[in-house]
Parts: sequence; C-alpha cells; structure tokens
Amino acid sequence: MTGPPSPLRPRDRARATGPARPGPRDPARLRSRAVAARLVIMQTLVVDHPLIAHKLTTLRDERTDSPTFRRLTDELVTLLAYEATREVRVQPEVVQTPVGEARGVKLARPVPLVVPVLRAGIGMLYGMIRLLPTADVGFVGLARDEESLVAATYANRLPANLAGRAVFVLDPMLATGGTLETVITMLNQREAASVTAVCLLAAPEGIDRVGAAFPDDGPLPVRVVTAAMDERLNERGYIVPGLGDAGDRLFGEI
Ligand code: URA
Repeated sequence: MTGPPSPLRPRDRARATGPARPGPRDPARLRSRAVAARLVIMQTLVVDHPLIAHKLTTLRDERTDSPTFRRLTDELVTLLAYEATREVRVQPEVVQTPVGEARGVKLARPVPLVVPVLRAGIGMLYGMIRLLPTADVGFVGLARDEESLVAATYANRLPANLAGRAVFVLDPMLATGGTLETVITMLNQREAASVTAVCLLAAPEGIDRVGAAFPDDGPLPVRVVTAAMDERLNERGYIVPGLGDAGDRLFGEI
C-alpha cells in the first residue's frame, strides 16, 4: 500500500513552471520564476505534454464550437487524470494468470470521490471517471456573482463523512480561487484525506489564494493539476488569455 501524497519530485518541480523553455533573460522566464516562487506554498503540477498543449490550443480558439469543445475537454481531462491519480492508494492483490501467480495491486478502499463543480465541472466528469470507474461521485454547485465575483453555494450532494478518502475536484478554471477554496473547505470539514483539483487552466491569483488557505504544511494535502498556468485575471475575474467562459463554451450561454 502506498502512503499519503509525497512532495513533488524534482522533475515535477521543473515542470511546475509551465511548458515554455525561454532563454535566461526572457521576460516569460522571469515571470515563470515568480510563479514558481509562489508555487512552493502548494503542490501544483502543470502537465507538460505535446498532446495536452495541442488540444488546449484548439480549446482556447474562439472558433471552436461546443461539440468540439466538449470532446477536447473530455480528452484533456483523461490526460490530466493520469497525472492526478499518480498518488492514488493501492493495496496488494494476487491474481492467477493462465500460466502462474502474479502479484499486483488494486485500488485501495475506501474508493476515491470525484466532485465536479456545477455547472462547468460536469463537462470534465466522464474524462475523469474513465480512469477511475469505481470512484463515487459527489456534486457541488456554485455560481459566482458577476459583480462581486463571490461564489454562492446552491447545491451540495457530498457524503457526510470523507475520512480516509482521496477527493478529486473537477473545475475547469482556477481563476480567483474562491470557488475552489469553498469546495475544499467543505471537503475538509468532512475530513477528506487529500484533495486534488483537476483544472484545465489556472491563474497565479487562484493558486495563491488556495495555497494560502491550505498551505503545504497544513493538515490537509491539497494539490492542483492543470494543463497550463496562464498570465493573470482581468478586471472581470476571467483568466487571460484563458478560453472565455468554460460553462458557456461547454453548454451554451444562460
Ligand atoms: N470561469 C470561466 O469560465 N472562465 C474564466 O476565465 C474564469 C472563470
């Protein structure tokens, strides 16, 4: 059986600054150093893979229609899920093959909980449970007020007790971090063993906020796994350059 999530490996720390590999004086490199300095407060993995970069570029493109956006989100989440589940707990299992005995592992119980944040997180659900088909699924609904940017909870279908359970939160855009902080607080109150947020995109402001609320040396291990760390938020709390409103692009404007 493996233990609780371990700190980032050196390889992952290098990747946590993003896919770009500019020269030493390049402004992008200096900016990414500043981002890396912030990241020490929380484990953040920017998954650096050409297929992810390729799919993400099409996802960002304003010409991409909803059916394509949904398909690419699904594919991207499965690729991110592979990294996000790297620390998932397993227990030894011996099976009989046609030619002998094989010692392997199976996912440990209690099974993980996957929590898509309504509404946009629903677009990420099947991409995630494709790799974790035995996971349970809980739901949290938060809507943010477009003036104050404060998120209010309108739905909560979570088990009362999450003791010993790894939780994977699905929210495409880690922007201000307000939604994620609220959801992780709910999971912490239910005594979740660890929380891994899977996000298509993250902004430094959101990473800072969640990292300050749940620091690396705190009792609840919190990690963020994302396809890219973007530059910043704009005055409306949107990620720049981002991809726009993820919920609208997945499901249409409401
Ligand atoms: N939510 C979105 O859908 N997009 C953003 O850029 C920020 C929050």
